[in-house]
Amino acid sequence: MIHKIADGVFSVGSVHWERRVFDELIPIPDGTSYNSFLIFGKEKTALVDTVDPEKTHELLTNLEKLKVERLDFVVANHAEQDHSGSIPAVLKKYPMARVVTNSKCRGMLMDLLHIPEEKFLVVEDREELSLGERTLKFFLAPWVHWPETMLTYLMEDKILFTCDLFGSHFATSRLYAEEDAKVLEDAKRYYAEIMMPFRVQIRKYLKWIGELEPRIIAPSHGPLWKNPEFILKAYGEWVSDNLSNKVLLPHISMHGSTRRMVDRLIDSLVERGIDVVPFDLGKIDLGRFAIELVDAPTLVLAAPTVLVGVHPMAIYAAYLVNALRPKLKYFGFMGSFGWGGRALDHIKAQLTSLKVESFEPIMVKGLPREEDLEKVDSLAEAIAQKHRELNLFKEV
Ligand code: FEO
Repeated sequence: MIHKIADGVFSVGSVHWERRVFDELIPIPDGTSYNSFLIFGKEKTALVDTVDPEKTHELLTNLEKLKVERLDFVVANHAEQDHSGSIPAVLKKYPMARVVTNSKCRGMLMDLLHIPEEKFLVVEDREELSLGERTLKFFLAPWVHWPETMLTYLMEDKILFTCDLFGSHFATSRLYAEEDAKVLEDAKRYYAEIMMPFRVQIRKYLKWIGELEPRIIAPSHGPLWKNPEFILKAYGEWVSDNLSNKVLLPHISMHGSTRRMVDRLIDSLVERGIDVVPFDLGKIDLGRFAIELVDAPTLVLAAPTVLVGVHPMAIYAAYLVNALRPKLKYFGFMGSFGWGGRALDHIKAQLTSLKVESFEPIMVKGLPREEDLEKVDSLAEAIAQKHRELNLFKEV
């Protein structure tokens, strides 16, 4: 698909309408796109990022349609194959082209795609590259989303090419985001799944990105932002320390005992004015779970013991939470067991990256009795107290 962004600047990437899973892990219910950008200068022509190898033919066809006879530079903002995977095919078609990237990304591309070292032009942070009357400026921005990531700014046109950063897995025939709730949710889902572990770095980057005052932010997934303020403001909120008055409650139950504790905790928290977001771990949508993690202060995991260990779905949830490194401050665990086990030890072993304060766990032998459920009420009260200390209760 070809879109004109400005005179001599085109989007030439590919929309992957039917893709539903990324990295064989992340659900992408609205498909995705791999955006690639062609820039004609008076002297040189550059391509910024390529497309997933599955879509190489579409990129090459688009370049032919635009009558690109000579390509001087292929800028690689990121080594991951959904953006770099077509570089070898582009270099085959345009043997004079050089791959422009930073030294770390060069090493990764040599490993991942076996691109020879002599094909690279290595750039430093804030280095500029002239295309004639147009100039590319490169900003190293590690960890959005790998250690080698960088952003490329087309200075005269004020277009910032951000690769994964500010992207969304959203297949659309439109070039620009519509700024509605759906677009924002897809962008938030993407942030939560991909960028949340790096929110501290992103917070720093937002400052100088804002100072650039880009006219357009052009990520390599999903629509472009012609009003950058919209997505910059949303990111500013997501990476902030702001929290909501809610509890995430991922849970699973085999014979209903843990379920009784879950139901009691939901009621008890709601009675105290706290929102609850339960997730059945047997049917969890990872994206929705990640979105709710963005501003959750508290998570309570509820799972039974299977033989001598915790239910494996609880391990999966704890592993994901640990990997996504959300803002969580408080953690609770509750569940039932039959004859013992080390469920809590197994969960704690998964949460090594989180700096959370843990509530007293509630482990119940068999079906919970009323005195067990009163302990669940006490947990709800302990959570409410912590939320009060965080000033999360709004005045009504
Ligand atoms: Fe879209 Fe990190 O690749």
